[in-house]
Amino acid sequence: MLNRHRRLRTNSAIRDLVRETVLTPMDFIFPIFVIEGENKKVEISSMPGNYHYSIDRLPEIIAEVMEVGIRGVILFGLPDFKDEIGTSAWIEDGIVQRAVKKIKELSKDILVITDICMCQYTNHGHCGIIHDGIIENDETLEYLGKIALSHARAGADMVAPSDMMDGRVGAIRKVLDGNGYPQVSIMAYSAKYSSAFYGPFREAAHSAPQFGDRKTYQMDPGNIRQAMREIEDDINEGADIVMIKPALSYLDVIRWAKDKFDVPVAAYSVSGEFAMIKAASEKGVINERAMAMEILTSIKRAGADIIITYYAIDACKWIMD
Ligand code: PBG
Repeated sequence: MLNRHRRLRTNSAIRDLVRETVLTPMDFIFPIFVIEGENKKVEISSMPGNYHYSIDRLPEIIAEVMEVGIRGVILFGLPDFKDEIGTSAWIEDGIVQRAVKKIKELSKDILVITDICMCQYTNHGHCGIIHDGIIENDETLEYLGKIALSHARAGADMVAPSDMMDGRVGAIRKVLDGNGYPQVSIMAYSAKYSSAFYGPFREAAHSAPQFGDRKTYQMDPGNIRQAMREIEDDINEGADIVMIKPALSYLDVIRWAKDKFDVPVAAYSVSGEFAMIKAASEKGVINERAMAMEILTSIKRAGADIIITYYAIDACKWIMD
C-alpha cells in the first residue's frame, strides 16, 4: 500500500491541526541594551532595528514588549566608565541596576533578567579578572557574586551568568541565598561556545576583548559531550534554567540537553544569527519573515523551551498576523 503522506498537507487547516511545533509569544525573551545619558534611542548599526536606550526611554520599548505578549527581557548595560576590575558592574547606581528599578516601576508583571558578565565593564574587554595575561577563574567568582547581588538588590527576578568561569553558578547561588535572595533564579549560559556569531553584539555592547580571544573560557565549537558536563555541573550548582548559545549552529546540543536533563532549556539565537538574516533580506536574496520564523521554529523543535532572540517582537507580530 502507498502511504499518502500528502493527505495531511492538503490544505492549511489540516496543516495547522497536525503541526507539532508552534511558536507563541510566551517562548521568547527580548534582549535590551541600556546606555547612559538622556532621551537616547540610537540604532545599533550592526543590528538594524535594535537600539541603545537611555533609561528614560525604556518605557516605550517595555510597552512594545508587553503589548505583543512577551513575558521577559534580558538586560545588557553599557557603562560610561570601564576599569581593570569592572567596578561599574556592581555599583548600586550602575546602569543595569537603575534600568532594573525603572522597569520594575513600569510593570511588576514583566520578568527582568540580567546578564552577569564583566566584559562590558572591563577596559580589557575580557569576562574576568586578569593577572599577567591570565583570566583568573576563582578570583573572578567573587566579582560575579557581587554583580549578581547588586542586580538582585535592584529587583532583578533572574540572573544569567555568561562569563563561563568554572563554579560561577554555585558561587552566585551562595551569595544570593546568604543575603536574603533565595527567590532570585539563575539561568546559566551553560554551553556557551566561542563563536564568530557574537561579532555584531560586541559592536553593540562595546565588549570586544582588547587582546587575545575568549577560547580559554568559552567552549570549542567541536565539542558536545563537554557541553553536557558543563550543563550537569551548572544544574548541580543550582542553575534553574540552562542555556545553549548560539542556537542555530548548535541545534544538536539543544536536543541532547533536552533529552538528558529535566530543567528548562533556553537557547540564545545570537546577534550573528539575526544579522545574517537581515543582511540577506536587505540584499533581496531571502524572505526575512519566512526565514526568521523557520529558524525560530527549528530552535523550538530541537528542544528549546525558551528562545532569546532579537526577532522576538517581530516574531510575535508575525504570529498574530
Ligand atoms: C557577554 C555576552 C556576549 C553575548 C551575550 N553575553 C558576548 C560574548 O561573549 O562575546 C553575545 C550575544 C549575542 O551575540 O547576541 N559575555
